[in-house]
Amino acid sequence: MKTTSDGPIGLFDSGVGGLTVARALARKLPHERLLYFGDTAHLPYGEKSPEAIRSYALGISRHLIEQGAKAIVVACNSASAVALDVLQAELDIPVYNVIDPVVAHLHRQNAKHIGIWGTRATVSSGIYPRKLAEVLPTSEVHTMATPLLVPVIEENLLRGEVTDAVVSLYLRDPRMQGVAHLVLACTHYPLIATQIAKQLESKVNLLRVPTIVANAIARELGDAGLLRQTPHPEPHHFAVSDYTDSFAKVSRIFFGKGIHLIEENIWGA
Ligand code: DGL
Repeated sequence: MKTTSDGPIGLFDSGVGGLTVARALARKLPHERLLYFGDTAHLPYGEKSPEAIRSYALGISRHLIEQGAKAIVVACNSASAVALDVLQAELDIPVYNVIDPVVAHLHRQNAKHIGIWGTRATVSSGIYPRKLAEVLPTSEVHTMATPLLVPVIEENLLRGEVTDAVVSLYLRDPRMQGVAHLVLACTHYPLIATQIAKQLESKVNLLRVPTIVANAIARELGDAGLLRQTPHPEPHHFAVSDYTDSFAKVSRIFFGKGIHLIEENIWGA
């Protein structure tokens, strides 16, 4: 299939977390139309096997392509970690991920002591240490699975005692000692970045991952000749595989009041 600059950009995540990437991309590229899909029926991806995540990622990408997507943004670290190769092999449109832009950014910063917080799927894949070793062979990389953060966020507990306690638990982990750059390597986590920053020592650099990712994807879409020159006439489209009021509420907090979430039951259950 030949892709042109006219169509929308398809993005997906396991839930509302990928909206952090969608929002940054919408700000960076105001002419583009986004088609967002949150696979809330299968949330959390971080606890699923690589095989399951690959099959969800492929199904969603095909659905987005049927709706006209000109490129796919895997707005999920867990899926970027384990499904990118499958998507790139099976799909005939460009597929972008959220990991490479962060690795390139850390490389540009010549980062030495790096902490990575992610889901179990992302951490067990070993993708960050592997990619970082290629460009920053002498850096120390400490990866930590921080699985309690996703349910806290999906429950809309974006600030307050519970969030603070979970963040504090993870920050006290010995692996965090000496970390100078902290990567929130799960697209849900930037939703509580302020809560995390508030407990961080001031010398720790908390990466602004959604902006870093949006800038890199905008550049790559531009290089591929896939950016629109005029505003897309239609609004963004946001769907989830299992609709609940709570997802709708969190999505408004993250994308803005204009978001209208609908259910698209692509799994047919
Ligand atoms: N937002 C996803 C990520 O970036 C995963 C959260 C989850 O479903 O476990 O990894």
